[in-house]
Amino acid sequence: MQECRFILLGATGDLALRKIFPALYRASLSGLKPNITACARSPLSTPEFLDKLSTKAKEYIKDLDPKAWADFAANISYTPLDFNKPEDFKALKSTHPNTIIYFSIAPAFFAKACQKLAAVGLNAPNIKIVLEKPLGTNLQSCKDICAQIGKHFKEEQIYRIDHYLGKQSVQNLFYLRHNNPFLAGLLSAHYLDHVQISVLETLGVESRGGFYDPMGALRDMLQNHMLAMLALSTIPANTPTEHTRQAKLEMLRSLKPLNQESLKSQVVRGQYMAGGGFKGYTEEEQVNPHSQTETFVALKLELEHQNWQGVPFYLRTGKRMGASLVQVVFVFKGPPQALVYTIQPQCSLELQLQGMGALKSTLDSGMDAYERLILEVVAGNQSPFNHQDELEAAWRFVDPILQSWQENLTPLLPYAAGSFGPKAAFDLLKQDNREWFVHV
Ligand code: BG6
Repeated sequence: MQECRFILLGATGDLALRKIFPALYRASLSGLKPNITACARSPLSTPEFLDKLSTKAKEYIKDLDPKAWADFAANISYTPLDFNKPEDFKALKSTHPNTIIYFSIAPAFFAKACQKLAAVGLNAPNIKIVLEKPLGTNLQSCKDICAQIGKHFKEEQIYRIDHYLGKQSVQNLFYLRHNNPFLAGLLSAHYLDHVQISVLETLGVESRGGFYDPMGALRDMLQNHMLAMLALSTIPANTPTEHTRQAKLEMLRSLKPLNQESLKSQVVRGQYMAGGGFKGYTEEEQVNPHSQTETFVALKLELEHQNWQGVPFYLRTGKRMGASLVQVVFVFKGPPQALVYTIQPQCSLELQLQGMGALKSTLDSGMDAYERLILEVVAGNQSPFNHQDELEAAWRFVDPILQSWQENLTPLLPYAAGSFGPKAAFDLLKQDNREWFVHV
């Protein structure tokens, strides 16, 4: 049994109820004993909060064991927390040597929360903070938020989450090559024609319109999850495992900046319209009816890195797509045709052979991302978390795209819900005599 003190800010929010508590519960089944203080603005008592939490737990946790849940819930207390009331923070004091404070709150409140925590000594060296994405909305705001946090917490106390980095199947984009040198040889500029990364969701924005509308697909998915997948797919296969974070940073820094011309010809943005019985994006709850927010983005990029000379990468992500699929496809110059690594819905590896069909193997996708990441924080392992420099490198690449959209350099294209995005996303590859490998 490993004990820890877990203070969760934003405990009544969607992410906390849907992902973080279920992950803590599962971690408790595998030996973690978290003493949890749940905090949010609502003036609830502990029994009232637990009532709400238990209802959600039944919805979100498969195979919930009532006895194990009762044991887990016995270690949860609820404390109302108003960021404008310093006395509320005093109630949070913790002397536990392994104290984790999880910020499941909007980044706009990160700086204030850090300042208030520090004022009551909750920034002592034994305290670790976990920050949810997105950290900022562009490079400058990311730097500003990080600078504010840095006034109170040292880098070794900060765990910046990208839950894709907690997926074993995503980490395996590196381990696949690291542990199998013959694959590393094959997945290189010498043999590859190009690489495709798709993160497609059939879901729309659901009840998250308020969060999503100021965000959009580029900030919500591409800046973080997709660039993380790209980095793990491209870091040198012989990187010692303890140096992967530094290696990822080098790959992100090698992203070739898009210029005026490529911003126009290599980036596609789209928004879903009503289709297949689904509402259009602008009809969704809490979305501005005139919203210009993209729910789809596709782009072509290159790496200015000696290992990846001449290998273009095509990335696409969208909501309300025709299928749910997270996939990296390595397309070869000659036979074999492609190596298809699917992360979701089920992890698999498929080698497309010339004239012989495909060799396919289903793989284990490992434990839930949030559970794994929480256990890594408890263990003090920062490697599956983002360093500030990685976030900045990713924003540095994304910023000009955001800027070009503000200047209306490219149009926001409509696509029908249930399709695979605007035609322009297909033309992006067609103009290079290539096509998306939609494999469902
Ligand atoms: C989140 C995004 O980070 O990732 C969501 O905010 C998205 O919009 C989700 O749906 C996808 O994660 P997963 O693990 O379901 O692929």
